Amino acid sequence: MSVNWSLPFEEKIIPSKYQSKVISPSIYKELHKIATENYKDFWASIASQLEWFKPWEKVLDDSNPPFYKWFVGGEINASYLAVDRHAKSWRKNKVAIIWEGEPAEGDKPKEVRYITYGELYREVNRVAYILKEVYGLKKGDAISLYLPMIPELPIFMLAAARLGIIFSVVFSGFSAQALADRINDAKAKLLVTADGGWRRGKIVPLKDIADKALENTSTVEKVLVVKRTNNNITMKEGRDEYLDNVYKQVPLNAYVEPERTKSEDPLFILYTSGTTGKPKGIVHDTGGYLTILRATMNWVFDIKDNDIMWTTADIGWITGHSYIVFGPLLEGATTVMYEGALDYPNPDRWASIIERYGVTILYTSPTAIRSFMKLGEDVYKSRDFSSVRLMHSVGEPINPEAFRWFFRLVGKESIPFGSTWWMTETGGIMISHLPGLYLIPLKPGTNGMPLPGIDVDVVSENSNPTKPEERGYLVIRKPWPGMPLTIWGDPDRYVKVYWSKFPGIFYPGDFAVKDSDGYFWILGRADEVIKVAGHRLGTYELESALIHHPAVAEAAVVGVPDPLKGEVPVAFVVLKVGQKANEELKKSLNEWVREQVGPIASLSSIYFVSKLPKTRSGKIMRRVVKAVITNQPVGDITTLEDEASVEEVKKAYEELK
Ligand code: PRX
Repeated sequence: MSVNWSLPFEEKIIPSKYQSKVISPSIYKELHKIATENYKDFWASIASQLEWFKPWEKVLDDSNPPFYKWFVGGEINASYLAVDRHAKSWRKNKVAIIWEGEPAEGDKPKEVRYITYGELYREVNRVAYILKEVYGLKKGDAISLYLPMIPELPIFMLAAARLGIIFSVVFSGFSAQALADRINDAKAKLLVTADGGWRRGKIVPLKDIADKALENTSTVEKVLVVKRTNNNITMKEGRDEYLDNVYKQVPLNAYVEPERTKSEDPLFILYTSGTTGKPKGIVHDTGGYLTILRATMNWVFDIKDNDIMWTTADIGWITGHSYIVFGPLLEGATTVMYEGALDYPNPDRWASIIERYGVTILYTSPTAIRSFMKLGEDVYKSRDFSSVRLMHSVGEPINPEAFRWFFRLVGKESIPFGSTWWMTETGGIMISHLPGLYLIPLKPGTNGMPLPGIDVDVVSENSNPTKPEERGYLVIRKPWPGMPLTIWGDPDRYVKVYWSKFPGIFYPGDFAVKDSDGYFWILGRADEVIKVAGHRLGTYELESALIHHPAVAEAAVVGVPDPLKGEVPVAFVVLKVGQKANEELKKSLNEWVREQVGPIASLSSIYFVSKLPKTRSGKIMRRVVKAVITNQPVGDITTLEDEASVEEVKKAYEELK
């Protein structure tokens, strides 16, 4: 796939407020080269800025590639670094988390909480006490967190990290089935959920969904329920407890000693979609992950003690893990956490949040920006964005038009604004316009240059570097701190998915070009992953939901460009004999998929066909389906079983267009 807009390779913008930090791309290239050639020493120098209980013996254990281990022999604790250190310093009364709930009256939020580092320390210790003393959990156990965007979510993450308990956050927009799959795969012993969560003024009945999920799981022994929305729920005797009740067993000044976790101990599992099969549990380590966060918080976000950082993502995704929770807290900064929809109840809710808290660093997404843009600038006429001094976007390519609009509206064309490239697997940002204390001139829509020590390239099918401006595959040649340890429970799959297309180097699955200045432009996924509003969906998950419907025989799902969401999924469906293709069935199929996967899995269109393009061995050729409907050349179809199927797809699509 490639973006459907032209790339302004030549344009260069120097934001006036950051002029002193600007460096020319060619000089940066030299610095990058030095750091990257000596990448082990280089990363060791960053890691040494963290507080270790015990220093590492070896920077990188590369004796069993691709299962790399960083800072081996070192002992470190993520919760200690993110909480204790600050609570014991002058930051004790500094606000760690500003939390705003969704319910609001007009412009006024009904609930706001300012949690200081001192309070966070107390809360994290109390929850750690519950995990350890009440539930008897210990290092290496796994727990699942299915919570809305409320302070308890980071508190449980930090409490688990304190004990070396591996946490798996499941996005609260996922369905019962998706939750059950993730619980089962992680073998979670405890599930933490809430009665409900607020989304666009409605209650998402999380406990009900969790109850359904638990019918299909066997590892969860206990369920802890946070009261958030006070809706009616059922509590199962002996299994379910309200957090409020359990708190009664906790001494007010409970202190739980942080575990001396090893650098290579898993910190968390985060599930993400791939090309085939069930979502993969990406496992992140502790020492390497904290190191990439330390680096990127300082380089890419230029974090300072008086910053108020707002990352508009959900903690259910990696962006939230790294840049709402661990990154800002590691640095002792103030992080803003907002529970709900950015445009609810008023379209400019997001702007009011920036104004209310004086947000200085903003991290958001192209889809959010495009949805703000749709309403025009007048909506924000009276809003004050002057506190913002730096911003970035993430999750999908940003079209130059959206870039320019936001750069003008919020950035007053005078502050850095980049599109940072990275992914669940990389742990932290890999490519940016602020690659290490400097700023390279901005180009609308580009991702910038790789961070020092990050050896990124664009290569052709036969793994040779491409020429400037020629499309190829993005790769990462050298190991980096923050890389995955493995796929949970499936190391072979880890090797196959990421390290086999180009043996010995990491393949993220994206198409990219590099321009003659050395800037990278990520164009989109090269595989069958769809990015819908920045969320990563595997065609496999959607197709397998469809073929479980009693009326469906076969299905092919592909992503097509969408002006707002970047991409949306469309489905081509072959019905079972005797089934009637009509609007009603379409509606029910869409509802079915949303129920099976979650509301983010909404199909934008469904087309009925009598056959799908397949290879002679029976594999559905999604590439061909996609080419047909996006008006691209279909390429090599010599392996196609029946050419008439291509015409069918074309006809079905044309008829409904
Ligand atoms: O295709 C790339 C796209 O998002 C994918 C990773 O998705 P996920 O693991 O959900 O993480 C998203 C947030 C870190 C990548 O393979 N992507 C992410 N950031 C960008 C991007 N594509 C273009 N530009 C970006 N800035």
